[in-house]
Amino acid sequence: MNHSEFISHCQSIVGNAYVLVEPNDQAPYLSDWRNRYHGKALAVLLPKTTEEVAKIVKACDQASISIVPQGGNTSMCGAATPNDSGQQIVLNLKRMNAIREINSSNQTMVVESGCILQTLQEAAKAQGFLFPLSLGAQGSCQIGGNLATNAGGTNVLRYGNARELCLGLEVVTAQGEILHGLRSLRKDNTGFDLRDLYIGSEGCLGIITAAVMKLYPLPLTQWTTLVAVPNIPATIELLSLFQKRTAALLTGFEMMSKDSLDLTAKQFPHMKNPLANDPPYTVLVELSDHEGEEHARNLMEQVLESAFEAGIASDAVIASNLSQAQSFWTMREHITMAQAQEGANLKHDISLPISGLDAFITETDQLIRGKFTGVRIINFGHLGDGNLHYNIAPPLGANASEFNRTHEATIHDVVYSQVEKHYGSISAEHGIGQLKLPDLEAHRGSVAHQLMRSIKTALDPKNIMNPGKVLP
Ligand code: FAD
Ligand code: MLT
Ligand code: ZN
Repeated sequence: MNHSEFISHCQSIVGNAYVLVEPNDQAPYLSDWRNRYHGKALAVLLPKTTEEVAKIVKACDQASISIVPQGGNTSMCGAATPNDSGQQIVLNLKRMNAIREINSSNQTMVVESGCILQTLQEAAKAQGFLFPLSLGAQGSCQIGGNLATNAGGTNVLRYGNARELCLGLEVVTAQGEILHGLRSLRKDNTGFDLRDLYIGSEGCLGIITAAVMKLYPLPLTQWTTLVAVPNIPATIELLSLFQKRTAALLTGFEMMSKDSLDLTAKQFPHMKNPLANDPPYTVLVELSDHEGEEHARNLMEQVLESAFEAGIASDAVIASNLSQAQSFWTMREHITMAQAQEGANLKHDISLPISGLDAFITETDQLIRGKFTGVRIINFGHLGDGNLHYNIAPPLGANASEFNRTHEATIHDVVYSQVEKHYGSISAEHGIGQLKLPDLEAHRGSVAHQLMRSIKTALDPKNIMNPGKVLP
């Protein structure tokens, strides 16, 4: 099958309107969110059903055309951007957006992979349930993309990441077969766990077309507080204090350094930290409670009181209503947007044992500042999960692209060597994509890397699923 026969065949599968070949139509699908990667595509395909996806994959298998699965295209590591050959297709799942079922007895929902995350949160809420996966890109990322990246976000410390929220998957394999795994079972030890292979595989093993996701009872009340903290050891003590005293009620513990919030206020002046005196660290704490408002509020106040007495917190603002709580979260989630508006920056989405966070930050700050005078370290993240977004912005006034081009490799080396030294991970939640592909083997070791390669070869022998991502 030559390329024009292939395009005609795809048109016969999904309809002419859903095979995009014109540059203007394709443009939104060819660059990543950070505007760092730009590719070309033979076609962008928008299938509506699992059967259509299967037929497309079979055609690609026969014609040896590689596929870049794409969800909301919010990847932070170029995982959903095609290469510049113009020989790949982008298969975007946005038209597969049906919620097939919400089942109260099972506390599950069966959803197609193109459903927008926020739509799922809202649909669950309308039925009295919580769907806890929550991240800054939730208005545009899709559940299929969340599963393919094993997304984390702000509720992981209580509910786990995307993997923990998934009970079953429907997948189109690299050969175009449909793997029917939409089971709502909490227990199922029947051989190798194929579901867990596809979760986090970044489109390199198959295409997730639908999933069974867990639901939870909707909390009666939530209390959100910003706490001023003098340093990282105090932040970690504060986390332990909340964990001991509030146990499963603790649903959010986000750390924001002063520089992160200064940058957010610079780009979005209405998002100024409401805490006085710009503390070195601001922690956003959220408690979710099923016992009613007073219970949670009292608990929050008591723990804060203990924190003040112990000298690990100097000030706090408890949100007095929903809209104030929302404004705290908006400020937290706008750090990413503020960084994007400020200009190109170097991101490190890393995780560390919580016990190693202080040493990591102290040493790495010193190394980076020692080598690169004036750089800005934008450090924030899901501290309750040991997940830092340890980002480096060029010195004020420097040419950002030139600074990054010249120093990116050295800065990554410094940060990742420190991650290894402190037994951390070079990707906590964003994945490998193409950004971290060169670093993966050294980080995971040759045995793990070879096993990953064997799995890839077994499931996708022709290497048509998102080649050039995760594995070379
Ligand atoms: P895409 O970017 O389209 O794709 C990501 C990867 O998944 C690619 O490898 C792609 O090939 C593959 N893929 C997509 N859909 C499928 C499918 N159906 N089947 C197989 N493979 C597929 N991430 C976090 O983990 N935590 C955060 O807190 C967080 N915050 C963010 C905030 C902002 C403002 C932004 C822009 C991004 C953030 N991210 C975060 C990163 C990103 O949103 C997540 O990685 C998200 O899960 C990607 O979903 P997506 O639908 O956009 O996937
Ligand atoms: C976040 O936690 O805000 C995201 O992971 C995005 C980022 O790292 O900038
Ligand atoms: Zn994050």
